[in-house]
Amino acid sequence: MAYACGVDFGTSNSTVACLKNSQPILLALEEDKFTLPSVIFFNTDLDQTTYGRAALAAYLEGYEGRLMRSMKSLLGTSLLDGHTEVDGRRLGYQDLLIQYIAELKSRAQQAAGQEFVHAVFGRPVHFIDDNPAADQKAEHSLREIAHAVGFKEITFQLEPIAAALDYESSLVQEELVLVVDIGGGTSDFSVLRLSPQRRNQVERQEDILSNAGVHIGGTDFDKYLSLRHLMPLLGMNGQLRNGSTMPSTHYFNLATWHTINLAYTQKVQREVADLMREVESPSLRHQCACLQNLLEQKDGHWLAMKAEQAKIALTEVPSTTLELERFCNKNEKNRTHTVEISNASFLVSIAHLLQEMQQTVSLVLKQALVSPDQIDTIYFTGGASGVRGLRQYLTQILPHARQVNGDVFGSIGSGLAWEAHRRYG
Ligand SMILES: Nc1ncnc2c1ncn2[C@@H]1O[C@H](COP(=O)(O)OP(=O)(O)OP(=O)(O)O)[C@@H](O)[C@H]1O
Ligand SMILES: [Mg+2]
Repeated sequence: MAYACGVDFGTSNSTVACLKNSQPILLALEEDKFTLPSVIFFNTDLDQTTYGRAALAAYLEGYEGRLMRSMKSLLGTSLLDGHTEVDGRRLGYQDLLIQYIAELKSRAQQAAGQEFVHAVFGRPVHFIDDNPAADQKAEHSLREIAHAVGFKEITFQLEPIAAALDYESSLVQEELVLVVDIGGGTSDFSVLRLSPQRRNQVERQEDILSNAGVHIGGTDFDKYLSLRHLMPLLGMNGQLRNGSTMPSTHYFNLATWHTINLAYTQKVQREVADLMREVESPSLRHQCACLQNLLEQKDGHWLAMKAEQAKIALTEVPSTTLELERFCNKNEKNRTHTVEISNASFLVSIAHLLQEMQQTVSLVLKQALVSPDQIDTIYFTGGASGVRGLRQYLTQILPHARQVNGDVFGSIGSGLAWEAHRRYG
């Protein structure tokens, strides 16, 4: 096996792959699973740190502690220089990323039975939109983190190009392909010329006709679903005695995966208690009591997982009902709240995101200087690529293109392994 690997550090899931017998293999990172959800849980009850599915399970079991998810979204932002507190200990966010990626490397090496010295990391087209300096800072931070965990040489490849390299390995003739990668944090679109004859060429720049990306992904769908359908159940938009509405900051923090922990401070709890005194209506009082309970119990990630669960269900069915079993105050333990969410209403909540994605698709097609009927194939990858609004749009604008669903969680890792082989042998 090669001493170089491909690392797809994702907002929601990560993979590591390398070439074995001229084929990419995705390494088993958690039992027999080749993805390790990008999650850490500091379990303060058991004084233990867990990762991936085990971290999510421990958090949901109700252990006291701190859950970190969507850590990639911190790259390129000022939050990366900040810290969170776990049991009175300060933990820098950059150190958290180091801790997670060190675990990823160690598990991959264990599965491969060897050390990895060099790595090709995937990166989105834009870590941060419309801010080249912040985008560069994000890549620089990721490079520093990769060095800190012991990789000697690190290079980057765009995630959609990596996905395309994986798809190309299955082709028998040349195709013009629109690669659509909708991940947890970013959506990338590329138009590429793929062909079995060019597969082994090192220089492929002229086959990349265009690419563009937006910092919008599945976690943003969760956020806006939550803001429209769940946060109002906790008092968002409610009216206070003096006629003003409930301040929205804490609701936005709770609805956004990587800022949920910001809502758990004593200061926020005091602010919510103060606001309670300004509430007259019994229904808003009840909603605020639910909010207080949720903050005390640190159930913010549980609620975000409910939003995610609804989003996933709505790719298959027109309407879904969520059971919010932890959604009550201390005096009504036996009452279960439910909320019904229709796909139509979900699509309204994310309409502005879909519109931005659609504009990015139009841009990438325009920049490639090809007419829509020249695109042979739309290749889908990324966990959120099933979202219905976007599929419908693509079918409309590229009616003749074949639609191919890639390995939504594995294709980028496999493509990065091809790339690592080409670059490091
Ligand atoms: N069946 C499904 N339908 C819709 N969304 C899904 C489905 N399964 C997973 N997702 C969503 O896909 C996203 C994760 O996808 P993926 O693992 O490709 O992202 P990532 O690679 O970690 O993120 P990024 O590439 O943006 O850094 C999450 O938002 C998750 O909720
Ligand atoms: Mg991805």
